[in-house]
Amino acid sequence: MRVAEAFRAAFGADPETVWHAPGRVNLIGEHTDYNDGFVLPFAVPWGVTAAVSPREDGVVRLLSLQSGSGPVTRDRLEDTAGWERYAAGVLAMLGDRVRGADIAVDGDVPQGAGLSSSAALEVSVASAVNEVCALGLTPMEIALTSQKAENDFVGMPCGIMDQAASALAKEGHALFLDCRSLGYRNVPLDLAAHGLEILIIDTRVHHELADGEYAKRRAECESAARTLGVPALRDVTDLAAALERLSGNERKRTMHVVTENHRVEALIGLLRAGHPAETGALLNASHLSLRDQFEVTVPELDLAAEAAVRGGARGARMTGGGFGGSVIALVAADRVASVRESVSTAYAAKSWREPRYLRATPAQGAHKVG
Ligand code: GLA
Repeated sequence: MRVAEAFRAAFGADPETVWHAPGRVNLIGEHTDYNDGFVLPFAVPWGVTAAVSPREDGVVRLLSLQSGSGPVTRDRLEDTAGWERYAAGVLAMLGDRVRGADIAVDGDVPQGAGLSSSAALEVSVASAVNEVCALGLTPMEIALTSQKAENDFVGMPCGIMDQAASALAKEGHALFLDCRSLGYRNVPLDLAAHGLEILIIDTRVHHELADGEYAKRRAECESAARTLGVPALRDVTDLAAALERLSGNERKRTMHVVTENHRVEALIGLLRAGHPAETGALLNASHLSLRDQFEVTVPELDLAAEAAVRGGARGARMTGGGFGGSVIALVAADRVASVRESVSTAYAAKSWREPRYLRATPAQGAHKVG
């Protein structure tokens, strides 16, 4: 394994353990996680593999096969930047039981596609350290630790979805997660049996304002919940009555979150009833709601979703935080070429860079590989 060889070459011994953790796409349930709502992501076949050995001397050495690295000490984790910060954040959150570590990571999540390479990095490192330091954390505790690293150390106020998907997803399944109770169920997602697949359309756009806008949306949702006197937008039961009491952005954000939670439940219902092809309308409705009510799409996402449907997709929507990244399209296997053609032609007409197409079947969450 490449990462184990790089570990040996850099640190002069075999790693004690090697873990792989995947990135994710979200089938539906967008911007619902930090509103205590429902999400339905699945793990993608790309991720981060972390080779780790513990150290007793307070030194942390970090090596990435994709970018630079350097030794830091346990008490100087704060000095890290870039990718190292995600790994350092995990160690910082794990506390004093982790005295030091040698860590090498190797990732293949397509960069900038919004497929949660950072969650894959955090969860792979946390899982490996959990084992070698005998911390006894459950996969959900690993997800929560990773989210805390991202919130408190990296400074991105994300919800639990990405880390939970990376830690808990099962091959061939989507992960239905209640982000309040943290109860979850692995929902079978065998699209191939129905002649369907998920095509990921990576717009290759990433807007710099993404993180700032994310924090703003989160604050607007929290403020709407306060106005309504509920703990979170998840608790809105009478949408019409709630909307009457709100205005402006709070009104729009609430409309999205409440209807999106319903769409998650409806989509699961269709999957359980054996009708995955009928979920397309829910995907389309989710996209429109993210475009018009939550306002996190950009023209590149809107056009990719529209052109995918025009090219024969059953439905399409942006996935992840928005402001760039990827669209997922639910496509009959024999329509994939025409969907790609439709999107590429629409992009060419705008003189935009050709999107990248990826095909994803639901992969296994974090697991030991060496
Ligand atoms: C990002 C965050 C997640 C979630 C999505 C939107 O991916 O990391 O926690 O909020 O955006 O659904």
